Amino acid sequence: MNSIFILGATSDIGRELSYIYAGKGYSLILSARDKSDLTALKQDVKVRFDVDAETVSLDLQDFENIDDVISSFKGQICGFVLMAGYLGDQQLAQSSKDEAYKIMAVNYTGSCAALESAAKNLESVPKSFIIGVSSVAGLRGRQSNYMYGSAKAGLISYLSGLRNRLQKSDTTVLTVLPGFVDTKMTAHLELPALLTASPAKVAADIVKGQTRGKSVVYSIFVWRYIMWIIRCIPEFVFKRLSL
Ligand SMILES: NC(=O)c1ccc[n+]([C@@H]2O[C@H](COP(=O)([O-])OP(=O)(O)OC[C@H]3O[C@@H](n4cnc5c(N)ncnc54)[C@H](OP(=O)(O)O)[C@@H]3O)[C@@H](O)[C@H]2O)c1
Repeated sequence: MNSIFILGATSDIGRELSYIYAGKGYSLILSARDKSDLTALKQDVKVRFDVDAETVSLDLQDFENIDDVISSFKGQICGFVLMAGYLGDQQLAQSSKDEAYKIMAVNYTGSCAALESAAKNLESVPKSFIIGVSSVAGLRGRQSNYMYGSAKAGLISYLSGLRNRLQKSDTTVLTVLPGFVDTKMTAHLELPALLTASPAKVAADIVKGQTRGKSVVYSIFVWRYIMWIIRCIPEFVFKRLSL
């Protein structure tokens, strides 16, 4: 029981996280949709770290299939990471039901189904852990990405409830709140350098939070204060801002 299931392993942050856990000697179950990306990552991890790694294809929009895929690793896993996410196109989502549904399905309903399955399979496993990657975008809705932000807000609330439920078990639940991260997801955006983390930094913060048994980690740390200020802005002011 020494494997970590990383859903969204081929994301830029997930890749760095895979390297850290492989470096610690864990076996990895690498999951996302694209099989060729997964196979390339598996080979990379095996060559670099000489650990066991396997791949499994899973689509968070394929709601009916999620529990079966994750539960097939019962007895093998001691940790589960929900890294997968979809930023989507806010403008498009305002006119396209498909885009709106996809943003919500990947970041909320599918993510919660995956975490629920992970909880079922891990709650009796000693010293096990669950990590859910949400976003600071979930802490206050803004016109530029409220479809994504609201789904991530739901995920934050879900993780809080799951942590509460599993408090008496030996399974920790960590909520990760990245700010801006320099990845494929944000490649089309101009991000302020001082507030933007590298995927490697976020992965290192995640592992530090998990090993210390934290409940919530921001990455980078300054986002805790930025979001505190943003949440203090009264709604009658906030609704007039172009954010
Ligand atoms: N980048 C940022 O600035 C930022 C900020 C805050 C939070 N985050 C969060 O951090 C996490 C990682 O972000 P990233 O920027 O590293 O992501 P990324 O490089 O864009 O990768 C996204 C990952 O999600 C997987 N994925 C997408 N749709 C999926 C689906 N329907 N089913 C299963 N897997 C799916 C992708 O693989 P396939 O396409 O092969 O499925 C890929 O592994 C996400 O949850 C994101 O929301 C990112």
